[in-house]
Amino acid sequence: MARRILVTSALPYANGPIHLGHLVEYIQTDIWARFQRLRGHECYYVCADDAHGTPIMLKARERGIRPEDLIEEMGRAHQRDFADFLIEFDCYHSTHSEENRYFAELIYQRLDAGGHIERRTISQLYDPKEGMFLPDRYIKGTCPRCGAADQYGDSCEVCSATYTPADLTDPISVVSGETPELRESEHYFFRLQDFEALLQEWATSGRLQEEVANKLAEWFREGLRDWDISRDAPYFGFRIPGTEDKYFYVWLDAPIGYMASFRRLCQERGLDFDAFWAAGSEGDTELYHFIGKDIAYFHTLFWPAMLHGASFRMPDAVFCHGFLTVDGQKMSKSRGTFITARSYLDELDPEYLRYYFAAKLGPSVEDIDLSLEDFTQRVNSDVVGKLVNIASRCASFIDKLFDGRLATGLAAPELYREFTAQAERIADLYEERDFARAMREIMGLADQANQYIDAEKPWQLAKDPAQRDAVQKICTLGLNLFRVLTVYIKPVLPGLANDAEAFLNLPEQSWADIQTPLLDCAVNPFNPLKTRIDPRQVEAMVDASKETLGGGDNPAKTAGRLAQDPIGEEITIDDFAKLDLRVAEVKAAEAVEGADKLLRLELDLGGETRQVFAGVRQAYAPEQLTGRLVVCVANLKPRKMRFGISEGMVLCAGPGGKELWIISPEEGAEPGMRVK
Ligand code: 2FM
Ligand code: ZN
Repeated sequence: MARRILVTSALPYANGPIHLGHLVEYIQTDIWARFQRLRGHECYYVCADDAHGTPIMLKARERGIRPEDLIEEMGRAHQRDFADFLIEFDCYHSTHSEENRYFAELIYQRLDAGGHIERRTISQLYDPKEGMFLPDRYIKGTCPRCGAADQYGDSCEVCSATYTPADLTDPISVVSGETPELRESEHYFFRLQDFEALLQEWATSGRLQEEVANKLAEWFREGLRDWDISRDAPYFGFRIPGTEDKYFYVWLDAPIGYMASFRRLCQERGLDFDAFWAAGSEGDTELYHFIGKDIAYFHTLFWPAMLHGASFRMPDAVFCHGFLTVDGQKMSKSRGTFITARSYLDELDPEYLRYYFAAKLGPSVEDIDLSLEDFTQRVNSDVVGKLVNIASRCASFIDKLFDGRLATGLAAPELYREFTAQAERIADLYEERDFARAMREIMGLADQANQYIDAEKPWQLAKDPAQRDAVQKICTLGLNLFRVLTVYIKPVLPGLANDAEAFLNLPEQSWADIQTPLLDCAVNPFNPLKTRIDPRQVEAMVDASKETLGGGDNPAKTAGRLAQDPIGEEITIDDFAKLDLRVAEVKAAEAVEGADKLLRLELDLGGETRQVFAGVRQAYAPEQLTGRLVVCVANLKPRKMRFGISEGMVLCAGPGGKELWIISPEEGAEPGMRVK
C-alpha cells in the first residue's frame, strides 16, 4: 500500500551561501525522498530559509539594507543552488512568512493556555550604544575561571568553563566595542520539564539512532530546563502576541517553518494539512526530520514537546547525520576547501557530488570526509568507468548493426533475473539510509555486467556475419542490465536516469518497471552520458574558493554542518600555570633566507633581548611588526633551528599561511609584563 510521507531538512540560515557542508543533508534527504516516490509512495519534501534572528538583523544593518531584502536575496540564491544540485523540494518557503507567523502564534497561544509558558524577569547584558540586549556570542571578555582574554560570553575556549556573560571580567560588546551593562527584562520560558515523561517515552521507542538516544538519556539525567523563547526588541522576527517589544527567539519559529512550508504546499496543491500534522494522524501518515547532529536537542526535545503541547502530532523519527570534513580537516578558506555550492557548480557536475556523498553516507551519525582525490577517482571509476561504460560498450553495435533495434530475446535471461532479484535488498538499504551499501551493491552489479561483456566479446563476434543474432542479444542484455542499474541509482543520479530513459525511449521509470525487460523496440543513438572528471577541474574549484571567499564571512557564523576544529587534549590549570607569558616589543624583524615561512624577530622582554623565529612570513612583512607589542611564551626551552636558536614563541591566532594574526596587548602594556 502506498505510504504517505512528509520529510524535511533543517532550514539553512538566510545569512550566508549554501556550501558543501550543508549539501550533505539536502542530498541525503533528497535521495531518500526520491527513493520513496520511485517506489510509488506519496512523499513530500519541504524546506525553507531560516530567516530570523540577531545575526541576520546585524548583517543587513552592516550592508545597509533591510533584513527583508537580505533574506529575499539569500532565499533566491539558496533556491538556485538547490535546484542546480537537483534537490527537488515540493515547497521551499521562508520562516518570515504569514503561514509561519500563524503557526508560531497558534503554538505559543496553545502552550500558554496549557500553562507551559512562564514569565520571569532576568538580568542580561545590554549594549547602551546600540540599544540592544546582547546574545552570548556577541559579548567577549576575560574568562572568570582561567583569566584567558577574548572569550565568548557563554564558554571559555581555553579552560572549557561555561558561564553567563555577566560573569566575564571586562566584557565588551562585539557589536559596538562598548562595555555592556546589566539590565533587567521580562522573558518568556517554555516549561520543557512538563513534557519529560512523554519525551522519555517518545525517545525510547526506536525513533532515534542509538548514539542520539544515548545522548538524550544523558540530557534526561542532567535534568530538563526551561527554555527562554523570547527576545527583546530590536530583533528581526515575529512579535509575541500581547506584547509590545518581545519577539519569538529564532529557534522557536524555525522548526515551525516545516509546518509553514507544508501549509503553503497544501494551498498550492489542495492537500490536506491535518492529515500530516493533526494529533492522531500518526499511523496514517509519516513525518521525518533530517538534521545535523549538532541540533538534535532542538529537534528531539523542544520540538516534539512544543508539538504535543499545542495538540499536534510528534515526528515519527529524527535522522541525524555527522559533519563534513574535506581532506580530513574542517573546511578552510585558506586551503580553498570552504567550497560553496556555486563554486562547485562552476566546475563540476552536481551528480558527481551526489554520488560521492551517497557512497559515503550510512545510517549513523559519523562524520563523513570528502577527500578530493578519492572523489575524482571514485566518480571516474564507478559512474563513468563502470556504470556508463556498460551502455557505451553495447549501444554502438545496436545502433550500427541493427538500426537501433533491440533483439526479441536476452542472451542470458538468468543474469537479468539475478539483477532484478536484488531490487528488494537495495530498496531496504535505501529505506534504512544505508546509501553507502546500496552504492556498493549497485557497483558490484555493474562490475558483473562489465565482466559479462568482457567474456562475450561482442566486438569479436561482430566480425562474423553468422554471429549477428548473438551480438544483438548480448548487447540487448547489456543495455537491459544498464537500464536496471539506472533505475536502482535513480534517487542518487536522477539526471543520468532521465538521460538513460531518453536514450532507451522509455517513459519515466519506477522501481517496479525493471521486472519486464526491454525487447524488440528501438533505442536512440547513444551520446556519452557522463564524462570523466579532469583533476584540473577540482584544482580550479579549490583555487576559485581561495579567491572568492578570502576575507569574507567568518565561517563560524555561517557554518551549516561543518566539523569544528577539534579542541586539543585537556590540560589542567596547573599545566596552564606553567606557561610564563610576557609582553614583548618587536625591536627588529627580518626575513630568513631559505625559509619562506619564517621571520627572525628580536624581542625586548623588558631588559632582556631574545631571538625568536616565528612562522608568520606569509601574513606579515617585517616592517609591519617592528615596534609592535606581542605576547611571548618566555619559558619555552630554547630550540636549535637550522638558522639559529629560537628563544621563545610568539602567540598568533588563525589557521596559518596568510590567515594568521599576531596577538597584541593593548597600547599601554609594557615589555616584560606578565600576561594573565
Ligand atoms: O542550525 C541551523 O542552521 C538552523 N538554521 C537550523 C534550523 S532547523 C529547523 F529547526 F528549522
Ligand atoms: Zn577559561
